[in-house]
Amino acid sequence: MKGVILAGGKGSRLAPLTKIFNKHLLPVGPYPMIYWSLFKLKEAGILDVMVISQEEQIPLFQKLLESDQELGMNIVYQVQPEASGISDGLSYAKPFVKGEKFVLMLGDNVFEDSLNPFVEAFQRQDRGAKVLLKEVADPNRFGIAEIDATRQRILSIEEKPEYPRSSYCVTGIYFYDQEVFQYIERISPSDRGELEITDVNNLYISNSQLTYDMLKGWWIDAGTHESLHEASAKMFETMKKKEGSE
Ligand code: DAU
Repeated sequence: MKGVILAGGKGSRLAPLTKIFNKHLLPVGPYPMIYWSLFKLKEAGILDVMVISQEEQIPLFQKLLESDQELGMNIVYQVQPEASGISDGLSYAKPFVKGEKFVLMLGDNVFEDSLNPFVEAFQRQDRGAKVLLKEVADPNRFGIAEIDATRQRILSIEEKPEYPRSSYCVTGIYFYDQEVFQYIERISPSDRGELEITDVNNLYISNSQLTYDMLKGWWIDAGTHESLHEASAKMFETMKKKEGSE
């Protein structure tokens, strides 16, 4: 399986830190944010990765990651001309994933769980897509899934709902088959002018092809000042615990 990391966007909720600096290069614990997605992929045995960002940002990622001999991953870089949405960004990965199933990670998501069990489950899934959910206290900030837990099914997903139907956030860790690129062609920009990943996931739902699992450990979208700070604190805490148990 291959991995795709989205590391573009405007980072406007992190201004002025992001005025001249890409969000995914900001520190989370002792590493620039993007490393955490790379570490999770590596741990799951996914070594072929595409990093997607805007043109002026790509040389920064190259400089950072190509100087790191220890990563041991094959990383390629792809330009998304404008930050026009997650689905738009993903569309540029089509030639890279070439007919394979793959995992898409939003580079500002930082979390505790290993990806291994989810990768294995998706390998066993014949076709379709899988999302990972997490209960959150502030559902207005995210894509929110209405679920039928007894039948293990997602009924619908709503992007940043005013009146959320649940507190299950669709995290920025997605597993897709090749159908995703056809679905992206079928969607139109949302009110915020972006090609939304939620619209693509709803197309999978309408074809009964979206499965889900729950994250057990902590999960943070580090896209705001408070959550960036919290992500750093959690990472230091988790690293300390790990050191203590070794
Ligand atoms: O974090 C989970 C949430 O991420 C989901 O629950 C939502 O359904 C999903 O839409 C997304 O919401 P955000 O509003 O937090 O997305 P944001 O604009 O912050 O972008 C998410 C990541 O994707 C971030 O790492 C930047 C990158 N990105 C974003 C856009 C819009 C790109 O690389 N290109 C883009 O055009």
